[in-house]
Amino acid sequence: MEDRQKNRSQADKPQPSDKTSQLRIQALIKLLADGQFHSGQSIADELGISRTGVWKMIDKLKQWQIAIFSVRGKGYKIDKGLVLLDQAKINAALKGKTQFFHRVVSLPSIDSTSSYVAREWHKSPGKALVCVAEHQAKGRGRKGRKWISPFASNLYFSLGINLPFGLNALGGLSLTIGICLAKVLNPYTSAAVKLKWPNDLLIEGKKLAGILVEASGDNIDQSFINIGIGLNWQMSKTQAVGQDWCNLKDYMAHKVDRNELLVKILLAFDACLQDYCANGFTSFSEKWRDYSAFIDQTIVIETRQGKILGKEIGINDKGAIRVATDEGEKLFYSGEVSLRPA
Ligand code: BTN
Repeated sequence: MEDRQKNRSQADKPQPSDKTSQLRIQALIKLLADGQFHSGQSIADELGISRTGVWKMIDKLKQWQIAIFSVRGKGYKIDKGLVLLDQAKINAALKGKTQFFHRVVSLPSIDSTSSYVAREWHKSPGKALVCVAEHQAKGRGRKGRKWISPFASNLYFSLGINLPFGLNALGGLSLTIGICLAKVLNPYTSAAVKLKWPNDLLIEGKKLAGILVEASGDNIDQSFINIGIGLNWQMSKTQAVGQDWCNLKDYMAHKVDRNELLVKILLAFDACLQDYCANGFTSFSEKWRDYSAFIDQTIVIETRQGKILGKEIGINDKGAIRVATDEGEKLFYSGEVSLRPA
């Protein structure tokens, strides 16, 4: 009986709305981003909540894989602090400079930025947007794989754009994005950023970034393209990713923060997409040789029917990979096969 009363009085208490909780979480992250200790009481006073409320929010942040230290008598701290994504800064830097990316939404946590963009598209079709998040609870990789997305460790973003032609004309778009991304990153790194067809970015053979392209529309006049990028920045080496991978910070020859880099990437994508819309894939396909990690090397193509050994000799104007085999040249399209070095 007592318990029931307790439950009822809990339920009668006004609960914070999702929006209020989000704003409080954002305020807490901003406080802790300075890398200093904050006592439970000072956080509670600042956010206007109870000590238990603080504890619950700290617990939530730990679930997002933020390393928060708590020391009795001192409070909570994020060691070395964090440079957070800053929506206002990103939008201000893009203002008046892009054809495609007028609205960037930056969120502390979301299931997946690609899923967010797809949902927004359903609500307001035709409205282009970019979503970037500090954490993804259900980050998605290619072929139904998970994309591990700890808080503020990497860049996770998706672009929703409307293109004035149908799905039939989209061959090569994901390669265009990959080439463009490698070109933006190369000046910052001490070793070359290369591409593994169709769209993995590698440094010294280790995965630096992945691209997930989802398209819907008709085959002739219009399509909605949802391009999701995951770029490893400073992820803890303890993350079990299931393949060789690296962080951009491990190879950073020139310092840049995530906000600046995101703006650079979006501006470069904007220019590439304009070029792609006006001139198609040909000029990008010619650049493939400069960026491919395995050009002129022996590779294995894994198909549903089995493995094919051959030499990568380039890509065609639809983005298919060209492989010289004992039986002559063969073409493979992404989605059907995967590639690995022999
Ligand atoms: C791959 O498998 O290599 C593609 C990975 C793409 C991951 C990014 S992270 C941002 C966006 N949101 C997602 O859920 N996936 C993409």
